[in-house]
Order: sequence, then structure tokens, then C-alpha cells
Amino acid sequence: RILKRQMLCRNDIDRLNAPFLAIYDSLIPPEEEKVKQKQLLKLLEKLVCKEWPKARLYLYGSCANSFGVSKSDIDVCLAIEDADINKSEILLRLADILKSDNLQNVQALTRARVPIVKLMDPVTGISCDICINNILAVINTKLLRDYAQIDARLRQLAFIVKHWAKSRGVNETYQGTLSSYAYVLMCIHFLQQRRPAILPCLQEMETTYSATVDDIECAFFDQVEVLRNFGSCNKETISQLVWAFFNYWAYRHDYANSVISVRTGSILSKHAKDWTRRIGNDRHLICIEDPFQTSHDLGRVVDKHSIKVLREEFERAAYIMQYDPNPCVKLFEPY
Ligand code: GTP
Ligand code: MG
Repeated sequence: RILKRQMLCRNDIDRLNAPFLAIYDSLIPPEEEKVKQKQLLKLLEKLVCKEWPKARLYLYGSCANSFGVSKSDIDVCLAIEDADINKSEILLRLADILKSDNLQNVQALTRARVPIVKLMDPVTGISCDICINNILAVINTKLLRDYAQIDARLRQLAFIVKHWAKSRGVNETYQGTLSSYAYVLMCIHFLQQRRPAILPCLQEMETTYSATVDDIECAFFDQVEVLRNFGSCNKETISQLVWAFFNYWAYRHDYANSVISVRTGSILSKHAKDWTRRIGNDRHLICIEDPFQTSHDLGRVVDKHSIKVLREEFERAAYIMQYDPNPCVKLFEPY
């Protein structure tokens, strides 16, 4: 490890730019997919409003945060302002309504950590999960989308990292590896930390957007049009950033003591957050602070076994980026 810490970027790294950009391009959803998503959302809005006239539907997750690859499922949040709602009852009623409109595979999962109704629309072929009043997810979706507009390299890096994670089987929270949301936060944090910085810290800037959800104050700068040149002093290319990203998570991150924090644009100490030991099921073996729910560690799903898997995958990727003649193929080889 100590030897590898001194690794330098390979001297032919820029030769890899075009192939990485080609992979990125191939993952971008085509316009007709977006059209179909909107079509499905319209149908759902019509059905929901008939039953709950004051309810609203919001897209969240990768179909709305600009980090969605082609053929992703869509995540929808049903917002109902009603003091004494019973989520399970609403989900069951919603499932009945959807079934009677010929939507397929309709299932209400009322006991899941985030209770949802699942469905598949036979007309567009799109699968969809609907949750209730998960407003924080709608707001963190906006935060991620706003970051993506500041510098094109964020979306490129995150697509490549997500594609790598899916190919290598380390994007499975139920197996103790990380969610897509966690990977995107890792990319944002990484670009905030480059010198010169490629991304600012929107939550440390003047507040131009704010909302309070479940007593959590969500405030940040969202006039991102004025930040379009923010990262222009940093000339690093996508291949250099992919190399440095994996190098960081393989050899530079201090897993024992550090928490990455997009909210502050910096590294915090595990000690300060009292994330130094296992509490209940939260082991804090890799610490990624949620930008709004600051007591929420997105690495909490990672256990003793999966941290090893994850770190070996980061090391494998760093090795390939350093030495392999053809990293754009090798990196994404199925595990
Ligand atoms: P893909 O579906 O893999 O393309 O990515 P996604 O961006 O939709 O991510 P994911 O399914 O992991 O999460 C969906 C959304 O749920 C995220 O974008 C967040 O807005 C929200 N979310 C909030 N807290 C959490 C959390 O602890 N874990 C996950 N996975 N998602 C969270
Ligand atoms: Mg999703």
C-alpha cells in the first residue's frame, strides 16, 4: 500500500479520454425514453388526482437527478398533505386503482423500509416505484441535478462509476454494497476536493432555495447558471479523474477516521460524528454523510464482509487504471 500511494498517473492517460466519453455517450438515455417517462407520469397523475384531488406526483431518483442511464426504472413520490394519513392504506388503495387501469405487476410493499407500490406500464414498457411523502428524496434529487449542471465532468464521472459498480456487482445495498445515490455523492465530494476545485459546495453558499421537511432545514444555492465556469481553472480530463477517483478510494481515503461530507465540501472526522463504533446495525466502515439527514450514513449498509469486497474492487479498478493496456474494457468486465 505504501508503495502504491506514490503512484503517478500513467503517461498515456489522455489516450483513454475518447473511449471513456464513448462509454458515457452510450449510457445516456435517448430522448424518446424521456418522452415515455413523461407519458407514464401523466397517466399516473390522472389516476391519482381522481382519487386524491390535492395530491401531487414528483419524479425523484435517477430519472430526475440527471444521473439516470438508459432503461432505468423510474421513482415517483406521491405527496399527500393530510395530517392523519395511513401510508399502508393509501398504498393498498393506490394499488387497486392502478390494477383496474391495466397496469401490470402491481404490488404494494407496505412493510419495506421505504413502503412502495411497484408497477409496470405495458404501453411504455417502463417499471416504476411509487412511494409516499418522501419529500427529502425529492429535494436531494434537486441538489444532485443542480450539481450536475455546474460541470459536465460530474455527470461523465458518475455514469462511469455507476456503470463500473453495476458491472462489478457492488451496487447492491441488500448485499452490503453501496446505492447509486451513495456513488453520486462520492463523485460530488471528490470533485469538490480537487485542487483547483471542480465543484463548489452549494450548501455553504448563500441560500437561494430552502425547504423544511420533518424538522430538517434544507438550504442551498440553486442559481447554478452563474456557476458554469466554476471548474474551468481545473483542466483535468475524464480519464484523469476516473484514475484519481479509484486511486482515492483504493489508497488515499482514511477509512478508519474519515467521513466524506458533500454538505460541508470537506472531510469530517468519525469521532466528531460519533460514528466510531457499531450502533445497532450501523457499522460505519465507510462513511458517507447524507447532505440533509446528517445523522444518516449512506455507508451503513456495508458490513465486515462487504467492506472487503468493496475495497478490493476499488484496488482492482485503480490497478487497471494504472497498468492495463485496455482499461475501458477491463474495468467493466462482469465479475
Ligand atoms: P439507479 O436507480 O440505480 O439508476 O439510481 P437512483 O439515483 O435512482 O438511486 P437509488 O435507487 O439508490 O435511490 C433513489 C433515490 O432515493 C435517491 O436519488 C435519493 O433521492 C433517495 N434516497 C434517500 N436516502 C436514501 C438512502 O439512504 N439510500 C438510497 N438508496 N436512496 C436514498
Ligand atoms: Mg432508481
